Amino acid sequence: MKTQNPPSKSVAIKTIVIFGATGDLAARMLLPSLYFLDLDGLLPPDLRIMGSARAPMDQASYVNSVHEHLAARPEGLDKVVWKRFSARLDYCRADVTQAHGLKDLAAHIGDDGAMFYLALSPSVYAAACEQLEAAGLTGGQSRIVLEKPLGHDLKSSRDINAKVAHAFEESSVFRVDHYLGKETVQNLIALRFANTLFEPLWNNLAIDHVQITVAETDGVGDRWGYYDEYGALRDMVQNHMLQLLCLVAMEPPADSGADSVRDEKVKVLKSLRAFTAADAQALSVRGQYRGGVVEGKSVPSYSEEKGGESLTETFVALRADIDNWRWAGVPFFLRTGKRLPERRTQIAIQFKALPHSIFGSAAKDDLIANRLVIDLQPNEDISLLLMNRRPGLADVRLKAMPLSLSLDDGGRRRIAYERLFLDVLAGNPALFVRRDEVELAWAWIDGVAEAWRNLSMTPKAYAAGSWGPPGAFALMERSGREWLDD
Ligand code: BG6
Repeated sequence: MKTQNPPSKSVAIKTIVIFGATGDLAARMLLPSLYFLDLDGLLPPDLRIMGSARAPMDQASYVNSVHEHLAARPEGLDKVVWKRFSARLDYCRADVTQAHGLKDLAAHIGDDGAMFYLALSPSVYAAACEQLEAAGLTGGQSRIVLEKPLGHDLKSSRDINAKVAHAFEESSVFRVDHYLGKETVQNLIALRFANTLFEPLWNNLAIDHVQITVAETDGVGDRWGYYDEYGALRDMVQNHMLQLLCLVAMEPPADSGADSVRDEKVKVLKSLRAFTAADAQALSVRGQYRGGVVEGKSVPSYSEEKGGESLTETFVALRADIDNWRWAGVPFFLRTGKRLPERRTQIAIQFKALPHSIFGSAAKDDLIANRLVIDLQPNEDISLLLMNRRPGLADVRLKAMPLSLSLDDGGRRRIAYERLFLDVLAGNPALFVRRDEVELAWAWIDGVAEAWRNLSMTPKAYAAGSWGPPGAFALMERSGREWLDD
């Protein structure tokens, strides 16, 4: 590993270079995030943003293309801010995996601190780091930002991490999981560790199980080239879902520092019970969407979108068990899929049922066990389901009363990448994934994939617009539970 000085918080980043500047991520997320930060006066005045890609383009055409994307957004474009923002933009044609284009880039950047954002396929990360190093761009002033998924399995992620570590100090490496930049995910940390109320209940004495759902209505569409190689397990579970699981399950960290939090997440990943071929059938479900109707529109099957048969899953449901004192006997059910009936990202903490009800038989069916529901999308909300008494003179009847703990101030909802950009600029890695975290997550995912392979578990069909194959319901029923709110 390189032994250069880690960047200090005082290193000012003067240039952000986005490799893959003409791609979808840059257009939909990265440039709008930077624009909104500029709108709020949060970007350093002298910060330049350099788009870089293989396509030949001059600065004016690049600025025009960014304008087109931003102007098409519902928020609209502020003329004054656009003037300031567009003056930051430049374009440099380069293939980051080849030496020649990087010379021009190095000349543009000079000796100042730069952030290199690889909005590219992970298959080129290793070559990109080699070339950045060869071009002298990886000094202590530079930071590298890598998108997920980092590799395809443990081995490939180790190979990439080793190449990255050869070029950059770990403290200069920012592995993005954009879920960590979402406001509600940060609220979850505040909820758990800024209140004394929940901590005594946050364990297997009070909690029955946890459900984490990431449901999308979109299909794979024109991303299938990438997606078909990864599938839902590697695209969503390995990263976003395991990160959410870790934040729910981790022990209170000593402080909110990056390594304190990441050390706790690592302990959770180490405690995940390994999947074996013996129980994979009972504990997991793979699905792939067929044609159907989603939000009132007929949509084609995955293989029609792709133009061929495929054994890639677009849906996963599984039960994860965490073998430690706090969570012994508390299953974590994870479910994610494309072309589900609604867009919903939600963590539900289901508390245990009352040990004994003192209310009469009329109220028996009213009783619902307490539940804390953290909605990340489409609404950002935290609500605690409590039981209350229905007013009236008749027999005692109870009713569920969801208590909203939402902090929605009615302001614009930030793109998760806004927070992440600011943190890279500040050199704060707390909301980024450390190397050991990524590798432990892959080790567990490899176990699931291997069990599926050994059992020849091919994806089961589900109609687009449904909540996945019937096996997803059976998975819950086997444990005497059910998915919430289907
Ligand atoms: C990405 C996945 O990481 O997250 C996509 O590659 C998925 O397949 C997306 O659609 C979901 O992100 P969000 O923020 O829209 O929930």
